[in-house]
Amino acid sequence: MKEVLRPYRADDAERLLIWRNSAEHRRWSFHSREISREEHLEWFSRFLTDSRRIGFFLEIEGISVAHVRFDSCENQGILNISIAVAPEHGGKGLGSKLLELALGRSEIADRASLISADTFVDNQASIRLFAKQRFVQVGTLTRDGKEFITWRKPLGKDIQRYPLILLGDTLRVSKLGGTLKKFSAKNFLIVPPSITTRQALTAHFPGLLEWLRVSQVGALFLVDSSLSGFCEEWKTLFPDGVYDLGEAGLSVGDCSQISTRAIDQIASLAFQKRSRLEGLNFPREFFPAT
Ligand SMILES: CC(C)(COP(=O)(O)OP(=O)(O)OC[C@H]1O[C@@H](n2cnc3c(N)ncnc32)[C@H](O)[C@@H]1OP(=O)(O)O)[C@@H](O)C(=O)NCCC(=O)NCCS
Repeated sequence: MKEVLRPYRADDAERLLIWRNSAEHRRWSFHSREISREEHLEWFSRFLTDSRRIGFFLEIEGISVAHVRFDSCENQGILNISIAVAPEHGGKGLGSKLLELALGRSEIADRASLISADTFVDNQASIRLFAKQRFVQVGTLTRDGKEFITWRKPLGKDIQRYPLILLGDTLRVSKLGGTLKKFSAKNFLIVPPSITTRQALTAHFPGLLEWLRVSQVGALFLVDSSLSGFCEEWKTLFPDGVYDLGEAGLSVGDCSQISTRAIDQIASLAFQKRSRLEGLNFPREFFPAT
């Protein structure tokens, strides 16, 4: 059986419209209304000329059986997946094959440090598909009354390498730390919330500020709005800036949202700094002996 993965072509427009408007695909789409031909053609021609986005078809013996689309997101360095198998070819392993082949393509690695996907909580085929490709389930959110799972898969080692400092409420920081560990990211320090001044930080991690100054990377993530009063001082200390989850409009209580948004922010920074991250590890003495 000859399998070929090929990028979208202009003459795919008709096939994509038919699949998109099929009952099966609309059922699992956030926008489930039928799409008009005019709207579809306009969208597809914009897609093909946008170098940040890319899509592929899987062909078996010359027949197009499935496609996957990678859309750019608000955060640079993240691509969001939409995947669909021709309704008559579902359940034959083609979705899994397509995803595996597409994720290995250099066009994807060049554009992103993180792949994101959202699946409705009852879309079993899709859930199994992403779990099998080792996407990590980061949280569960609700949009327009529909509950969905947020999946993320790091590409390459950018996120693992990115030096990161987490400060804030213990529960939320440890949840975020748990997600980072699932991504095999170990290059992060957790600062206890009692440390709120430059002097206390220096006493806790001697040499940290100097290391950050020299390396020119390192973000601080605040996950507890009660600490945001110290933000102005922290902002002067961290070259990549302070990402204040309170300012980002996230409710302190929502761990799912915080983890998802924070992971996206980390991935975006890691992507922008990727050329400088090689070998940039926090000195071992910053980590408590285990
Ligand atoms: C999701 C979709 C792409 C999966 O493609 P597929 O080729 O049918 O999936 P595969 O045959 O590779 O199977 C993937 C897994 O899902 C399971 N699966 C397939 N169809 C299923 C179904 N109808 N119900 C439950 N599980 C199903 C398979 O058993 C397999 O799991 P396993 O490897 O643990 O056994 C396809 O069903 C589809 O196009 N759905 C409509 C669009 C959609 O939901 N897209 C996802 C949103 S991004």
